[in-house]
Amino acid sequence: MSNKSLARPHEETTILVTGGAGFIGSHTVVELLENGYNVVVVDDLSNSHAEALERVRAITNTAEGAARDRLVFHEENILDREAMQRIFAAHPIDAIIHFAGFKAVGESVQKPLEYYWNNIAGTLVLCEVAREHGCKNIVFSSSATVYGEPEFIPITEDCPKHEATNPYGQTKSMLERILSDLYIGDDEWNVVLLRYFNPIGAHASGTIGEDPEGIPNNLLPYVAQVAVGKLAEVGVFGDDYPTPDGTGVRDYIHVVDLARGHVAALDWMGGKRGSGEPRGLGSMAGRPAEDGTRRGVGIFNLGTGKGSSVLEVIRAFEAACGHPIPYAVKPRRAGDIAENYAACDKAREELGWQAEYDLARMCEDAWRWQSSNPNGYKGA
Ligand code: UFG
Repeated sequence: MSNKSLARPHEETTILVTGGAGFIGSHTVVELLENGYNVVVVDDLSNSHAEALERVRAITNTAEGAARDRLVFHEENILDREAMQRIFAAHPIDAIIHFAGFKAVGESVQKPLEYYWNNIAGTLVLCEVAREHGCKNIVFSSSATVYGEPEFIPITEDCPKHEATNPYGQTKSMLERILSDLYIGDDEWNVVLLRYFNPIGAHASGTIGEDPEGIPNNLLPYVAQVAVGKLAEVGVFGDDYPTPDGTGVRDYIHVVDLARGHVAALDWMGGKRGSGEPRGLGSMAGRPAEDGTRRGVGIFNLGTGKGSSVLEVIRAFEAACGHPIPYAVKPRRAGDIAENYAACDKAREELGWQAEYDLARMCEDAWRWQSSNPNGYKGA
């Protein structure tokens, strides 16, 4: 079956967002609705809350008249083939943005079977059902983790991939391979791999944001919970790295910027953005199709291009919340690298996308979310 064409107005296009109730997913659904798309969310709520989508409806209702009516939610797991069949039969899905997956690095070491099964098999079921329904357009939520210890910084998309040190990272890397192979086997496929750096922040309304289960693994939610008084102090994992202040440096990107990168990727797939010769992966990279859309595998880093240290993040958050945040230096965390940040030229040149918000704004928005929802969605 030939592929659905994305060479149509957004208003006539339906996007399936797996994991759409999660942190990045919910912010992406807002941007899709505000850009006129019809959105179908599939999420099993294993690490997210339906309330997030209620708030997405509230945000988009004020932004644009009937946007909320263009969002449909199915509480299902992508591994459930029959459920996915029903969803594809019920909606004219043109493209998929695939976020659904387990994502805790440490937990993945303890539960490899769960991670491989959920992330890999789930994606295989999703792609198989999509193909049966003539949908071969997919944007995949990948990660800078695929670069492992990077060979050079800033990291370009050509930077060689390295073996991930944990099953979570392995699933991202393997799924990049699997999705690229779909195109090699059938050049109707249209695949975009977005390699995220460190998404933080929240929607400016403060009504949706990151809501991790239990003690946060990542720096920003941890700092935010210390700031709001739920946790005592931030542990700074190592101050003896070869970085300016000795603490780890990462490329933090505002989740709203990241979400907009997905809208840009869909336009790029639909031939509405970018011109000239795409770079990377030779002939695989987004060749033009007869209908003006692209076919191939587009790979893009989504970051800001700027690195910030752990201490800089803590200081920026202190400025946002207006009081000191206690911290203590702890030993390095296993598997952490000293420094990474993205080269973002490719996304800027081809997708016409670049991050707008700085670290101060990321922390202000994260603080607005955290202080008005100290217990996340559960307090709702
Ligand atoms: N850090 C602390 N204290 C904490 C948590 C983190 O000092 O309590 C430090 C880390 O050592 C690191 C930085 O803060 O230097 C950022 O750590 P995060 O856990 O927030 O983010 P990572 O860069 O380790 O992980 C992120 C994503 C992963 C992805 C990884 C590699 O969360 O999904 O980038 O791309 F795999």
